[in-house]
Amino acid sequence: MMKATIKDLDLKGKTVLVRADFNVPLEDGKITNDKRITAALPTIKYIINAGGKVVLFSHLGRVKTEEDLETLSLLPVGNRLSEKLDQDVYFVNTTKGEELESAIEDLKNREVLLVENTRFEDLDGKKESKNDEALGKYWASLGDVFVNDAFGTAHRSHASNVGISEHLPAVSGFLIEKEIDFLGEAVLNPKRPLVAILGGAKVSDKITVIESLLEKADKILIGGGMANTFLRAQGYDTGKSLVEEDKLDLAKSLLEKGKDKLVLPVDVVAAKEFSNDSEHAVRDASEIEADEMALDVGPKTVELFEEVLKDAKTVVWNGPMGVFEMSNFAQGTIKVCESLAKLEDAITIIGGGDSATAAEQLGFEEDFTHISTGGGASLEFLEGKELPGIKALNDK
Ligand code: 3PG
Repeated sequence: MMKATIKDLDLKGKTVLVRADFNVPLEDGKITNDKRITAALPTIKYIINAGGKVVLFSHLGRVKTEEDLETLSLLPVGNRLSEKLDQDVYFVNTTKGEELESAIEDLKNREVLLVENTRFEDLDGKKESKNDEALGKYWASLGDVFVNDAFGTAHRSHASNVGISEHLPAVSGFLIEKEIDFLGEAVLNPKRPLVAILGGAKVSDKITVIESLLEKADKILIGGGMANTFLRAQGYDTGKSLVEEDKLDLAKSLLEKGKDKLVLPVDVVAAKEFSNDSEHAVRDASEIEADEMALDVGPKTVELFEEVLKDAKTVVWNGPMGVFEMSNFAQGTIKVCESLAKLEDAITIIGGGDSATAAEQLGFEEDFTHISTGGGASLEFLEGKELPGIKALNDK
């Protein structure tokens, strides 16, 4: 990566503003997955060890109403971070003003402070999400240097990433560096064959990534709900399956363009209803009945995918193969995880989002070379887009 990194800075005695992505899932105020907090630790610990003062910023959820101010506080994140660092994390329950300023002023070298959810500023004219110039400038005035380590937010151009970067020396942290190294190497300089696995509900979400990967990958395996639109475009009846009628022409042209590369399901698990209790059966792709919907790829497809995957040297995966949250429709996703776990000599990367959740929930987390912390960000990166949060950083 040709951007300056945290290692290019002298941090001793400096007030180091850090943008992390602590947008973690919460249930009843409790964090249900703290992977993103763990992923930020190397950068935070590095600053502590270098004798800097750490001031952390992050968003949490999308703040639209006064009630969100109660439910979307970063306080639980501060507590969890404190446990992980085994030191105090001072939490300031505001995003600007005297209390915040004097807390930062009082901070000693090696101490850590967490600022309240940056999107609380969205209640006042979407200042954070619209990258309000004055807000970015104000936050930047609170520190000496800026380290952006929020890969999951790098596809956003907000005040707490792009805005601050415009007013301070701005570098990447270790997480952004690692994500870009893995994702960048996988698509720009891959060990071949490079196989992409794409799933998820909709073709419309993945058009640009399919187009971009058609130029780079050797094979693209298509599963999940989006496969139905391709099956229909091939002329099959898909019953009650989710099909994007307005994307059929596009699917046809992608099939034409990618005829040597795209691998589609040859069979599916079809159910009468969108429910784990529904009657279901394995059907060839050409035999889905009028009252059925495809909710997973079938065993012949799994074999076909395994055949392609066994020679792969790099695999990039985005989107589950079926409705993995329902046990009767999870086999396709489980089998793909198993095939990837067996590859000893390949780099296997999950591009965040639902497929990362699937691999974690199904117990395969340790079997991948890299699981990205960014869903939308890694997808945009794979689409070949420049991520504004990274673009805004200083060049090396
Ligand atoms: C994510 O979870 O994808 C990031 O934290 C970005 O969140 P957002 O989609 O609400 O901007």
